[in-house]
This record gives sequence, C-alpha cells and structure tokens, in this order.
Amino acid sequence: MKLTVLLLVCGLLAINAANINLDTYPFEKEIAMVNSLPDATWTAGRQERFKGMTEEDVAVLCGVINGTYNPLPIMSIPVLKDIPAEFDARTKWARCPSIGTIQDQSNCGSCWAFGAAEAMSDRYCIHLNMSLNISAADLMECCESCGNGCEGGFPEAAWNYWTRSGICTGGLYEKSEDKSSTCKPYPLPSCEHHIVGKEPPCSKKIAKTPECTQTCHKGYTTPYKQDLHYGSVSYSLDVSVNGVQSIQTEIMTNGPVEAAFTVYSDFPTYKSGVYKRHSLDPLGGHAVKILGWGVLNGEPYWLVANSWNPDWGNKGFFLILRGHNECGIEEQITAGMPKN
Ligand SMILES: *[C@@H]1O[C@H](CO)[C@@H](O)[C@H](O)[C@H]1NC(C)=O
Ligand SMILES: *[C@@H]1O[C@H](CO)[C@@H](O)[C@H](O)[C@H]1NC(C)=O
Ligand SMILES: *[C@@H]1O[C@H](CO)[C@@H](O)[C@H](O)[C@H]1NC(C)=O
Repeated sequence: MKLTVLLLVCGLLAINAANINLDTYPFEKEIAMVNSLPDATWTAGRQERFKGMTEEDVAVLCGVINGTYNPLPIMSIPVLKDIPAEFDARTKWARCPSIGTIQDQSNCGSCWAFGAAEAMSDRYCIHLNMSLNISAADLMECCESCGNGCEGGFPEAAWNYWTRSGICTGGLYEKSEDKSSTCKPYPLPSCEHHIVGKEPPCSKKIAKTPECTQTCHKGYTTPYKQDLHYGSVSYSLDVSVNGVQSIQTEIMTNGPVEAAFTVYSDFPTYKSGVYKRHSLDPLGGHAVKILGWGVLNGEPYWLVANSWNPDWGNKGFFLILRGHNECGIEEQITAGMPKN
C-alpha cells in the first residue's frame, strides 16, 4: 500500500514559537466577522483553550494528513426507513459514559487517534457491555502506518491497526485514578489557562510523540499484551449514495463514528449554534466523533464531540450543518466493530 503524504499543512505551520502573551486570543478578526453577519446560524467567541496561542499553534491541532491512504474496505449499509429527526447516542445508550466524555489532545496533532479511540470505546460498551476506554496514546505512539503521531495521521489507518494489532486501555491525563486502572493514560496534559493552578498553559511547541513501549503504566497489573483489545472488523462508510442516511443508520445501529473535515479559520471560534463556514482560509484536516443529529432553528445539524477540552465550543461539543457535506464532514467516515 502506498503512503501518499501530500502536504502536512498543520505541521509546517507549527514552527513559530515566539513570546507567549497570555492576554491575547487568536482569530479576533474571524470572531468579529462571524458575529457581524446578520444571518449567521452560529455564534463565535474567544476560547480560553487558545488564550496566548497564535493561529499557527491552533492549526497544529488539526492532525489529519491531507492525503489518500485508505487500507479499509468500503462498507455499504442498507439505510433504515424510519430515521428520526433527532438522535443523541448519549441518550440512546445512557449506560455508556464514554459517549459523552470530552477529551483533550494537548498541544499535539493526535485528533485522528482521539476520534478513533473514543468511538471504539463507545462501541465496546454498546455492543459488548464492556466498560473500558481505548488508549489514544497507544494508538498515536505505536501505530507506524498511521502517520506521524503528534504531527498528524490517517483515521482509516487507526481503525485498521485496531483489527490487526489491538490497542491497550487508556484514560484521561488528569484522572489520577486512571493511572493505575488503565494501561496507557494520555501522557500530555490538558490545556487550560483560566483556572489558576489547575493545568499549566500548554507549550506553544508541538509535543514530541512519546516513544512506543509495549508496557503498561506502573501500578496497572495486567501485562500489555494481555491488555490489547481488538476490533473484529473496521471499514470506511460508503457515502456515495444516500450519504447522510447511511451515516445516520450507522450511528443509530452501531454507535458513534469517526469523521474528518477541513478546519477553516473561523471554526476554532465556535461557541454555539449550527456551524457553517464563513472563512476561506483552511487550517488543516481535523478528526472528530459524530454522535447524533437534529434540527435547530430550522437548520439540520450533526452533533459532534471535539477533543479540544470541555472549555472549547459548547462544553466541548459543536453542531455543524447536515446534508451539505459542510467542510467535507460527510465524506470521510470510519468505524468498526469490537471483538470480545
Ligand atoms: C472510561 O471513561 C469514562 C468516561 O470518561 C469513565 O466514566 C469510565 O470510568 C472509564 N472506564 C474505565 C474502566 O476506566
Ligand atoms: C451490563 O453490565 C452491567 C454490569 O456489569 C449489568 O448490570 C447490566 O445488566 C448489563 N446490561 C446489559 C444490557 O447487558
Ligand atoms: C488538501 O489537498 C487538496 C488537493 O491537494 C487541496 O485542494 C486542499 O485545499 C487541501 N486541504 C487542506 C486542508 O489543506
């Protein structure tokens, strides 16, 4: 399989570490522009998560490599007839807390690993009633075919790696209890600036991908190899015909999915409402988890979990226009099924 890495936009923009000015926020121009539009369907604002950061620092977080590498089979699913107007996987599978948990990828372009690990964790709970969280850290450190760890990767390769090699359990960085209850918790801190003493501001420089080790965190007693969890199958969803309904059917039947889209310079300022692009400057490709849909003030939307901390956006989530392949959100959908 040929690995075609076209251009790592986010990675290239990363080399720009100047002075940290904690009193400034990036994207002020975009915030003013969006909020001045009379018919905007969403509200923009400053994000504490990005305080003191530059626009280039934010671009680093968009770690989906702009290239074509799809080792997965394309799966067509017969669409359901009665698709409801609204659906929220958190309500449908209320016994599964991972579905509504927002994570933080830190100053690292590992979104491709988060979108995958989050949807995989949800699916162990949904299909096998297993309470475990898949480690985004293990995926970004150990999957070589996935790309470049913190400098970007391929969502499809992450799902492929799950079925081939397995991924160990993990958890949030700040949860000290996770450190002995899971194999590889996330090694990089969340980025929060506003609560003094809680978390340090993230370094402006992109984090170095930690080395892959086949060992678990000290205090966790299961050996690494025995802690690996596999997928039975993974796939890219066929969205060429009835794409929207196919995505809806997949989510309703099997659980949340990973999606990739292009982040434009107005997106990082999202606070509430249904996002539509108003900027022409792409920052890079980004991966997220779609967990539902609905309609707000007449605008159909996808309900999406980001991995930029619960401070970002609407408690870490955002809504994006549904049915128009907004920023490519409906064209790169990956998922799979867990193996017991
Ligand atoms: C998995 O993550 C969820 C949500 O963060 C948490 O509630 C749960 O305790 C975790 N499960 C394990 C086994 O660590
Ligand atoms: C899932 O597991 C929990 C505890 O292990 C159990 O109480 C519950 O009945 C199970 N639910 C399903 C749907 O199997
Ligand atoms: C990805 O590459 C395509 C074709 O080379 C280009 O048109 C597009 O703008 C790129 N996307 C980003 C986010 O840079």
